[in-house]
Amino acid sequence: MLATLKQVLSQAQKERYAVGAFNVNNLEILQAVVGAAAKLKSPVILQTSEGAIAYAGMNYLRCMVDQAARENRIPIVLHLDHGRDLAIIRQAIKNGYTSIMIDGSHLPFEENIAVTKKVVGWAHAKGVSVEGELGTIGGAEEKIVARKILYTDPDAAEEFVERTGVDALAVAIGTAHGAYKFSGEAKLDIKRLKQIKGCVKTPLVLHGASGVPDWLVRTAEQYGAKLGKPEGVPDDQTRDAIRNGICKINTDTDLRLAFDAGVREFLATAPEDFDPRHILGRAREIMQSVVEHRIKLFGSAGRA
Ligand code: G3H
Ligand code: 13P
Ligand code: ZN
Repeated sequence: MLATLKQVLSQAQKERYAVGAFNVNNLEILQAVVGAAAKLKSPVILQTSEGAIAYAGMNYLRCMVDQAARENRIPIVLHLDHGRDLAIIRQAIKNGYTSIMIDGSHLPFEENIAVTKKVVGWAHAKGVSVEGELGTIGGAEEKIVARKILYTDPDAAEEFVERTGVDALAVAIGTAHGAYKFSGEAKLDIKRLKQIKGCVKTPLVLHGASGVPDWLVRTAEQYGAKLGKPEGVPDDQTRDAIRNGICKINTDTDLRLAFDAGVREFLATAPEDFDPRHILGRAREIMQSVVEHRIKLFGSAGRA
């Protein structure tokens, strides 16, 4: 069933676990994520970036998510990830998204507040939840480029939440988007997270949170990928972040790595087989096992 972000995060916050938000770009990714969540009886957030919408089309994505929500008795949130284009945001609200992220993190504080408030007005009028962002998460994705991390200031976070009325707040505590998150030792600023949590009652969101597991990187490289020195958020730091108030955890890079590893492994080990269902089927299997691991890590299994 479809649920709003506010609904799933208020339960997570009360019971002190996090809900996984997984980026969905096509059918196989969606089936892997929903398959894992249904198997583990976990709520789940399916999020589409503006890049995913440009790639697959908002209506295709929405129809697939609607079908998943009809077929499964777990709460499923359809969320717009890193919304920046106001036309796309309005279209998503109109088309049945149950949650929107307005990412004004690149704007000066007052401008971020103004645009976030505007989107909260549109969204709440239709019962849609809103995630805002304050501070800058590092790394680079297709449409989001921010190499330098600007850590979230706790007092500014309190003011931001109060003045905008967002239902969830993404904070920058040292993570970065993509596969190369840290130069040197992986370290989240848990002290800062505690301070933010002390000032803000709204559920907090961790972006750039993929774990980049070694086995996945090794599998992809064994079959030809060249990944350099990727580094993700270690599982114990993810657990620590959840203990200290993180209720939504975004994962895209781990799915990309799993997809890549699955396709490469299949093509290399069955060179005579060119059936896309077999090639993508293997990718789907590996993605599902990655999502199952993360759902268990987040503590959301059995909460649906
Ligand atoms: O944080 C961004 C997500 O990983 C989506 O990336 O814009 O390349 O689809 P994308
Ligand atoms: P990763 O690149 O760590 O998977 O983060 C994804 C994300 O934050 C999507 O909004
Ligand atoms: Zn993000």
